[in-house]
Amino acid sequence: MNPPVNNTGVSLQVRGLRKSFGGQEVLRGVDLDVRPGEIFVIMGPSGSGKSVLLKHLIGLESPDAGEILINGESIESADIAAKYRMALVFQSGALLNSLTVGENVGLYLTEHRLKSPAEIERIVAEQLETVGLAEAVNKMPAELSGGMKKRAAIARALVIDPQLILYDEPTSELDPLSAVVIGDEILELKRKIHVTSVVVSHDRDLAFGVADRIAIIHEGRILTVGTPDEVKRFNDPLIQRFLHADFKRDPQSKTL
Ligand SMILES: Nc1ncnc2c1ncn2[C@@H]1O[C@H](COP(=O)(O)OP(=O)(O)OP(=O)(O)O)[C@@H](O)[C@H]1O
Ligand SMILES: [Mg+2]
Repeated sequence: MNPPVNNTGVSLQVRGLRKSFGGQEVLRGVDLDVRPGEIFVIMGPSGSGKSVLLKHLIGLESPDAGEILINGESIESADIAAKYRMALVFQSGALLNSLTVGENVGLYLTEHRLKSPAEIERIVAEQLETVGLAEAVNKMPAELSGGMKKRAAIARALVIDPQLILYDEPTSELDPLSAVVIGDEILELKRKIHVTSVVVSHDRDLAFGVADRIAIIHEGRILTVGTPDEVKRFNDPLIQRFLHADFKRDPQSKTL
């Protein structure tokens, strides 16, 4: 990796966030406080509004009501994008199909002419190495597996030395070993560059393995926020059912 950059993770506040699509209320008043440099995991059932929330956090969707503050400043303010480096790793990877993996990863630096081509090549190689994709630099996205696309998307987020990195299901489509590698990488980034991380995931091993704090979202509302231990002990049947959902191998089982 690069030598540690003098980086400081940002704080993130969400206040009363509401969003509907058509008649459907997806976010119904979300409040969150994410501290600088922490790994904040959001868990919740499919369709509960996690991806929609992440898109709001980076300004890709605008709320019907409520606000989002980065280091106390509204993300609606004009110069926020110039001031802070933020990246979203999309659930789908969202690579451009006409560019190679290397070009995708270096795209931001190339487009903004932030570095020389040789420097960009070096940074791209380094970040691909970090996510275990060094061999794929000249491949096209269509030639990658789902998990490889995901790792390329993480490498693309890392090239900007983000102060806030948002991951949407970073381990879906990954085998368990690769999932552990991604979890370690998330922890390593916290340690090395103090980036603030918001991780949306269904993956209980990942969530409890990396989180400083976990929020549980259900039907567009945050049900609880706490450390992994606090959340495990939280005495709410809905949360416990979500955290302990498992197959009913025993036909007599009445746990769900
Ligand atoms: N652009 C959109 N237009 C209309 N409806 C949308 C849009 N984006 C999301 N939705 C709806 O909002 C709800 C929440 O979607 P979201 O993608 O946030 O779920 P999620 O919690 O990320 O689920 P998953 O775990 O399956 O990824 C869904 O019912 C979805 O259909
Ligand atoms: Mg989603």
